[in-house]
Amino acid sequence: MELYTPEALITEEEIRERLSFLGKAITKDFDGEELVVICVLKGAFVFCSDLIKKINLPVKLEFISLSSYGDSSNSSGNVRLEMDVATNIEGRNVLVIEDIVDTGLTIKTLMEILKARKPKTLKLASLLFKPTKISHKIEINYLGFEIEDKFVIGYGLDYAGRYRELPYIGILNAGN
Ligand code: IMP
Repeated sequence: MELYTPEALITEEEIRERLSFLGKAITKDFDGEELVVICVLKGAFVFCSDLIKKINLPVKLEFISLSSYGDSSNSSGNVRLEMDVATNIEGRNVLVIEDIVDTGLTIKTLMEILKARKPKTLKLASLLFKPTKISHKIEINYLGFEIEDKFVIGYGLDYAGRYRELPYIGILNAGN
């Protein structure tokens, strides 16, 4: 059987500690109010599942899925809603959970779609942020880690559908 263990960039322990911190901050900021958590599929599902366990508030969990088309090296690429949430978010506290903000196009498009539905509050939690690639103005309210411009995998993030199951975040390299 083939075994692979890409080099760790961020360990399980580091992720655990950071999620505890973020969970406490979210719990404090929403002060007992109900939260609609929107997990952006597929990449954010591991981060979302661990983070909601650290949030001490009533949570209603929703899923959303987007797909990008066009030239990925060009920020004018199209983003389309593939699967929508199953609930009305008007007047609700909404927390979007994303895996990584790279150019920012995907999350900017999603936040604009959701904002038009008039939530009471709309916040963003992202596990990772690559500051060197950003080309859209995005406010990340709860950030896991800022990373350099390397392609990362694991903890929900994939390369061609693989590596999502790794319990840590690794850097994809030619040997994997
Ligand atoms: P953006 O629209 O350029 O910000 O791209 C965001 C999306 O690209 C993420 O939700 C991921 O699906 C994917 N992505 C960007 N960088 C990486 C990476 O390093 N590893 C895995 N997926 C990535």
